[in-house]
Order: sequence, then C-alpha cells, then structure tokens
Amino acid sequence: MSESKTVEIRVKRFDPDTKQFTVKSYRLEVDRFTTVLSALIAIKEKQDQTLSIRYSCRMGICGSCGMVVNGKPRLACETNILKECGDTVEVEPMLGHPVLRDLVCDFDDFFAKHKSVKPWLIRRDRAEKFRAEKEYVQTSKQLDEYLPFTYCIKCGLCVDACPVSNLNPGFKGPQALSQAYRYIADSRDEGAKARLEALDTFEGVWGCEFLGACSRVCPKGVDPALAIQLLKMRVINPPRDDTH
Ligand code: FES
Repeated sequence: MSESKTVEIRVKRFDPDTKQFTVKSYRLEVDRFTTVLSALIAIKEKQDQTLSIRYSCRMGICGSCGMVVNGKPRLACETNILKECGDTVEVEPMLGHPVLRDLVCDFDDFFAKHKSVKPWLIRRDRAEKFRAEKEYVQTSKQLDEYLPFTYCIKCGLCVDACPVSNLNPGFKGPQALSQAYRYIADSRDEGAKARLEALDTFEGVWGCEFLGACSRVCPKGVDPALAIQLLKMRVINPPRDDTH
C-alpha cells in the first residue's frame, strides 16, 4: 500500500437556518493512519472552518462521532479511509436522529429513552448505600448474564440502523431496550418487575421485529437484538417478585 494518496470526501451538510441539505466535496491527502474523523478534523482546520462535527475521545470510547460513512452507520474515529472506504468517502449525518447542523445530531430523544428504562441498579432498601455493610458478591455466571450488554457507549448507531426506530418515533429503540435488559439481568437489581411491565407494549419490546440491523452496526459488539428477545421471554414469564 502506498504511503499516501488523495481522496475525495463528500460531506452532506445541513444548514439549520435554511433547513437545506447540500453536498460539499473536499480533496485531502490521506495516509494509512487517516480515519474519517481525522480527515474531517483536517478539513475543518485547513480547508473549511464552517464544517460542524462532534467528537471527543478519537478512540472509539465516547460514542460522539457516529455518522453514516459510505451508506453505513459507523464511528468516524474507527473507520480507516484507505482500508475501508476507497477513493471516495461519502459522509452523512445519522438518519435516525434529528440533525442540528452538518454532521451533528440531536440526542435529546435518545437519552430520554435511555433514562426512561431506569438504567441504574434499583434496590428496595434505598438507605443501604449509606450503611455499606456488605459487598454484593456475584458468581461468574451471574456476571456473564449482563456483562456483554455493559459495553454500550451510547453512540446511537443501533438506533440509526433500526428500521422500526426510523418509522415509529415512539419505539424505545435497541439501545434503551438493551440497557433495560442489562439491569434486569443483574442479580443485584430489584427493579425487574416494574421495568418489564413498562416495556410490555408496542413502544417497548413488542415493537422489535428482530431484523438484527442494530447488532450488525454496534462498534462494541453489543447484541441489542438478542437483549430484546431475552426481554420478551422475561415479559412472558415475569419474576414473581423482584429477586433473581
Ligand atoms: Fe469518541 Fe469517536 S470520538 S467514539
């Protein structure tokens, strides 16, 4: 592979004042280390300071840089141009979230849905955390029940890829539902019954048509489609009380 090469980067931009989308083309020399994000940062620094992008960690941890790259929802910081994109890189804002400007989307609805499933450990004795008399010991098997679902970085790519989320704005979506399962499956949690009752709706688990697009695009290997099917099983066979 040659050391560097010039590629075309076509960015679909959105102007909130005119509510118009336009496509702007940039040419940039890239090398084998250049990611879509580093290319966009270079364009912003050297060619066009008006380009709006959002990012933070640049290493696939913060979940800020989601966008559609050559037709697929991707993290821009984890998409290598020479290895994965070819000579033309088409970049668009995510489709499943309202666009604020250029490649920056509004995540208010996304985080409201995440919060609605109570993504924290619920305990009946709310004062116990102030006493700290014991550890909450778990076996490896109990840990395995929920560990794969803890890797979510809330990038929103799963929601972007989900056809149901794109057609039904009321649907909780794969991210919120997988995080509901993450806590319901945790042996320390005592909020399963209430969460499951709240999700026994078409906006909850029954909206999922098990197409699996969410799981295919997750950059962290989380499997929201599996989590939702496991949730459906628990909705059908709910725990008699909130203990596991
Ligand atoms: Fe943090 Fe890409 S900048 S995940």
